[in-house]
Amino acid sequence: MENQARGNWGSRIGFIAAAAGSAVGLGNIWKFPYITGQYGGAAFVIVYLLFVILVCIPVMSSELLVGRLTGKNPVGAFKQLVPQSSWWIVGAMGILAGFIILSFYSVIGGWAISYIFRSGAYMASGGANAGDVFGGFITSPIAPLVWHAIFMAICIGIVMAGVEKGIEKYSKILMPALVVLMFILIIRSITLPGAGAGLSFYLKPDFSKLTGAGILAALGQAFFSLSLGMGCMITYGSYLKKDTNIPTDAYWISGADTAIAFLAGLMIFPAVFAFGLEPGAGPGLTFITVPAVFASMGTIGHLFGIIFFVLLTFAAVTSAISLLEVVTAYFIDEAKWDRKKATVIMGIIIFLIGVPCSLGLGVWSNIKIIAGRDILDSLDFVASNILLPLGGFLLLIFIGWFWGTDKAIKAGNEGAKGGITLGSGYAFLVKYIAPIALIIVFIMKIMEF
Ligand code: TRP
Repeated sequence: MENQARGNWGSRIGFIAAAAGSAVGLGNIWKFPYITGQYGGAAFVIVYLLFVILVCIPVMSSELLVGRLTGKNPVGAFKQLVPQSSWWIVGAMGILAGFIILSFYSVIGGWAISYIFRSGAYMASGGANAGDVFGGFITSPIAPLVWHAIFMAICIGIVMAGVEKGIEKYSKILMPALVVLMFILIIRSITLPGAGAGLSFYLKPDFSKLTGAGILAALGQAFFSLSLGMGCMITYGSYLKKDTNIPTDAYWISGADTAIAFLAGLMIFPAVFAFGLEPGAGPGLTFITVPAVFASMGTIGHLFGIIFFVLLTFAAVTSAISLLEVVTAYFIDEAKWDRKKATVIMGIIIFLIGVPCSLGLGVWSNIKIIAGRDILDSLDFVASNILLPLGGFLLLIFIGWFWGTDKAIKAGNEGAKGGITLGSGYAFLVKYIAPIALIIVFIMKIMEF
């Protein structure tokens, strides 16, 4: 269906760049290294890779084929496949997750932009006050909100320009730039004296460090990092032309995302060990430890620090626009709004939801919502740990047990000339392996709750 009003991807590479741009974000460069650090390094990475292959690639193919077949947003897609049923609620949950994730994602994206201009502050003391610079910034009431607004404004501008002119064009420029910048930083990192300890932490598995919590964290992280479980890939798939090979593209997107997460670790761990820092430092790893690493490099660290946060901003923007696109596409299709109206109104609402997230780290830090979590953490918990895995699980159950894997395989293979095709392996993963793995995640989340 070449739906001119909604637009289509201009080229296959353009689609892959946009979808990989969605997947590659703060999840890869900020979250993946710090979780890997917390759960023991190389063994965690291996488990993460297994989950990408066994669970995430089938889910990604499923989302893309549903999107391409229906040409709709997540809610419209379910309504079209099974009219008069309640399955559309799965799509609605995804839209809701998009609202929530983007609201706090934009706050952190704002931090990334502001850090492009913060090297003067953390360089001044040779890195000794990197923690104070970070703490002082995120707890202040106004500054983070200004950066949050700037980040959201950039996303609104790009999404407003539309699928072909906006998302695809920017991703085609930003993604290769990101990879080039990462390689520069990796070379610097692995040539530091003492980097070897970081390399062996990251690359030599010690399975005795692997815990049950670590295994489950790997599954959750794979899901989040690949932008799955909220209909993001349904929406991007809806702009696909019929001659795309979906399973092959799912491999390319997952491969690119996983490679960049892996490179992020290669960029961070050698440097962290070379400077005697703590790999399990947690969410502060990017905003505190990495600036400290740059500061202790001398003048050149100034430049590397700026490059790093430009890179992080690129990655965050290409992910955030995919979240905004899901919400926007829903209001364009279902409420018949024009793109400009949908993008601006939703962008402003999402910005406003983000405001308490930011204030909750400073002036409103006494407000705790879920089990001692601040506002930002609570929204992250609800969206990432409940809505996303639940959405992915229900999509798998839908395809595996209601709509039927035969129809899915037919829809997914349509137009595939050569390359990989979906078959009985896909059906087995969708019906059994992937849902069972997700049930294990739910149980862990419930216990954590
Ligand atoms: N995957 C992105 C990251 O790693 C974040 C993201 C974008 C996302 N779109 C999503 C996460 C949809 C879950 C669902 O930063």
